[in-house]
Amino acid sequence: MKFIIAEDYDAMSRAAANVIAGYVTSHPDCVLGLATGSTPIGLYGCLVKDYEAGVLSFKDVTSFNLDEYRGLDPQHDQSYRYFMEHNLFSHVDIEADRTHVPDGACPDAQAACAAYEQAIAEAGGLGLQLLGLGHNGHIGFNEPAPDFPKYTHCVTLTESTINANSRLFDSIDDVPREAYTMGIGTIMAAKEILVVASGADKADIVHRAFFGPVTPDVPASVLQFHPNVTVIVDKEAGALC
Ligand code: F6R
Repeated sequence: MKFIIAEDYDAMSRAAANVIAGYVTSHPDCVLGLATGSTPIGLYGCLVKDYEAGVLSFKDVTSFNLDEYRGLDPQHDQSYRYFMEHNLFSHVDIEADRTHVPDGACPDAQAACAAYEQAIAEAGGLGLQLLGLGHNGHIGFNEPAPDFPKYTHCVTLTESTINANSRLFDSIDDVPREAYTMGIGTIMAAKEILVVASGADKADIVHRAFFGPVTPDVPASVLQFHPNVTVIVDKEAGALC
């Protein structure tokens, strides 16, 4: 594992964007796994700047997002599809039909998840997977559990995640209670993994995830078993490491 502590959020974002830009430049037809949340907004901004500067192209890239709320239409302004359109896809030259987000509008959870897992396999598997880190150690929406879930599946969100995400909805009652997410097995099969975390409120979980024991109680800790992981945090998130 490569563990990098950047000076601040902007430096973390630039360093993480450089890893992605480097991967796309050296593998132009790669499969990128992408994440939503507050943490990657800055790095997506850096990638858009690189594209606008003419030094980066996504024209042959395929993407798969980690997760989506179950029950939200892609047009809903809190759906992860909407987030990706707004923060990255609509600003760069990625082909719309090569971007994938689990179908939150599909009520048949088993069908939606199986179709997603199959689409990833048909694309040749994930190349570089970007991850944020939940306060409880979740990656994607893989919450602390008795074991590590293998494939894309439907999860019931924990109180901690519902509370954390309620800041983005009108009220906590509007936060969906379920989501479709890649499994830990799906994520661990990626060739490379890049994790970003920012802020003092992530310091404890960053330390537990990357320097504590590997346990499904802290889902991100499984990344210690991956042969090609880069973790980039800002000084505040890295304060206990
Ligand atoms: C987002 C995702 C989540 C977030 C995590 C951290 O697609 O899968 O695991 O990465 O909840 O979110 P932020 O960055 O908002 O702290």
